[in-house]
Amino acid sequence: MELNQKIILITGASSGIGKDTAIAMAQRGARVILCARSEDKLQQVAATIQQKGGFALPVPLDVTQRAAVEDAVNTVLARFGRIDILVNNAGIGYFGTLVDMPLEAMEKVMAVNFWGVIHCTQAVLPAMIRQKSGQIINVASVAGKRGIPGLAIYCASKFALVGLTESLRAEVADHGIQVILICPTSTDTPFFENAGTDGKIPNKSRGLGMMSSKAVAEAIVEASIKGKREVVLSTSAKALLVMNTLFPGLVDWGMRKVLQRR
Ligand SMILES: NC(=O)c1ccc[n+]([C@@H]2O[C@H](COP(=O)([O-])OP(=O)(O)OC[C@H]3O[C@@H](n4cnc5c(N)ncnc54)[C@H](OP(=O)(O)O)[C@@H]3O)[C@@H](O)[C@H]2O)c1
Repeated sequence: MELNQKIILITGASSGIGKDTAIAMAQRGARVILCARSEDKLQQVAATIQQKGGFALPVPLDVTQRAAVEDAVNTVLARFGRIDILVNNAGIGYFGTLVDMPLEAMEKVMAVNFWGVIHCTQAVLPAMIRQKSGQIINVASVAGKRGIPGLAIYCASKFALVGLTESLRAEVADHGIQVILICPTSTDTPFFENAGTDGKIPNKSRGLGMMSSKAVAEAIVEASIKGKREVVLSTSAKALLVMNTLFPGLVDWGMRKVLQRR
C-alpha cells in the first residue's frame, strides 16, 4: 500500500514503537492520527512531525473506553471521510508469576492489549468495509507466539491477539482489507518501566537482545507497504520459534532457566 496521503490511526502513538511508527509513516506522506492517553506527549509527537512538514492530529484516547473509541473514530471519519490504516499498537505489560498475580493487574493488561484492540477494530471496520479497502496492523509480540515465565498475562493477551488477527484476516479479505501481524522482540522503549510488577519479577528485559523502536517502526512501514501477512522481528526470535516448534520440551527447559535468572 502506498502511504502518501493515507489516513492512518495509530494507538499508543505517544511513546516508543507507536511514536516512531507515526513519524516514519508521516515521513512517507501519510496523515497520521495520534492516539494515546497522554495529550502532552501526543502534542510533542505531532509537533515533531509538523516541523518536518508532515500532517499529524493528536486525538487523546483511552482504548479501554469503548464509547470514547467510537466517538474518536466517528470524529476522524467525519473530518477525513475514511480511515485507510489502523495500527493497534497501544499495549502494557505486567511482570509476576501467575500464582499470586492480582486480578486487577490482569484485567488491566487484557483491557488494553486485547479489549482495546477489539474496540478500535470494531469501530473502524464498518468504514473499511464500505471503502472496500484498508489495513489493520496489530502489534503483538514474540510473547504471543511462545509463553514466557513471569509474563503469563502479557503472553495470554498477545496469544489472544494473534488468534484474533488470524481469524479476522480471513473474515475481511474479501472486503479488500488486509490484516497484518507484527511480533516485535524486546525493544528499547519505556515499556519495561511502564509495566507493572509484583516486586519479585523485575520489570526488565531478559530477552534476546534489544531492538530500537525506530527499527521496529521501519519494519511496520515495510510490512504495510508490501502488504505482508506477518512479521517476526529479529533472527534470534525467529530461531526461538523454530526451536519451539521442533523441540518444545527443550525450550520449556530453557524458559525455566530464564525464570531462575530473573
Ligand atoms: N518494548 C518491547 O520490548 C515490546 C516487545 C514486543 C511487543 N511490544 C508491544 O509494542 C507495543 C508498543 O509498546 P512500546 O514498547 O512502544 O511501549 P511504550 O513506549 O510503553 O508505549 C505504549 C503506548 O501505549 C499507550 N497506552 C497504554 N495504555 C493505553 C490506553 N489505555 N489507551 C491508549 N493508549 C495506551 C501509551 O500511551 P499513554 O500512556 O499516553 O496512554 C504508549 O503510547 C505494545 O503493544 C507492546 O506490547 C513491545
